[in-house]
Amino acid sequence: MRIYLYEQVDSTNDTLKEKALAGEPEGSVVLARSQTSGRGRYGRSWISKPGKGLYFSLLLRPATADIQPGLISLLSSLAIVDALKAEQGVSAQLKWPNDVMVDKAKIAGVLVETLYQDHRLAHVIVGIGLNLFDAGMDLSGRFFKATSLERHTRKKIDPDRLVQRILEEIMKEYRLLHNPLRQKRLCKRWRHHCLHVNRPVKVVSPYEAISGVFREVDVAGSALIEQNTGEIVVVNAGEFSLQEEICF
Ligand code: BTN
Repeated sequence: MRIYLYEQVDSTNDTLKEKALAGEPEGSVVLARSQTSGRGRYGRSWISKPGKGLYFSLLLRPATADIQPGLISLLSSLAIVDALKAEQGVSAQLKWPNDVMVDKAKIAGVLVETLYQDHRLAHVIVGIGLNLFDAGMDLSGRFFKATSLERHTRKKIDPDRLVQRILEEIMKEYRLLHNPLRQKRLCKRWRHHCLHVNRPVKVVSPYEAISGVFREVDVAGSALIEQNTGEIVVVNAGEFSLQEEICF
């Protein structure tokens, strides 16, 4: 696994994309101490001040079309939950599609970006942002309620070790993901840690909103929402996100 370290980049996803286009192998990572244009889903900005958080991206090149990018997004958020527990003793939960939450506030997010060439998936870039410290930062003016690791852990925070652990957790599961049973197991584990299973939710896109009860996720990373007619609607993570006011 090759890790490129930078003091500052625009966005680790963009830096890694350039490398991917130049033939960088699977497993390469770009990690920066700060980003000038860190971004989240829907083009939102991701505040990335030096030393305040983890900002890194991992390159994957799934060899089979059976591994869908939405599933990689679920896998990555689950890896963060596992790493936070193992390294820091912190219990985190998941909010669909890819938010990691502690005490109902967002501590980390995952931005999965893909490139298709000749109708096949050429690469997947998994960008991870995790808030470590917030002293001197104003987390209140965000689109969502945010928190940082220092507020929830009694253990010393070792950023390098945490990155290493998250990457290990992702790669461990990713290597087994061609197995359909493993994919199902992953969805089950994700559901187990999800904050809003069997809760009323509203999922929104710029064009429409779907209300119903959140039941589960499938191997494409989509949400299965049961409407009051009893009909199950499959909602695609690429287009929709969950509106939190309704959920909590
Ligand atoms: C989200 O919750 O909307 C996803 C946030 C992802 C932020 C990370 S920070 C490292 C990587 N580089 C970026 O520009 N974004 C991701």
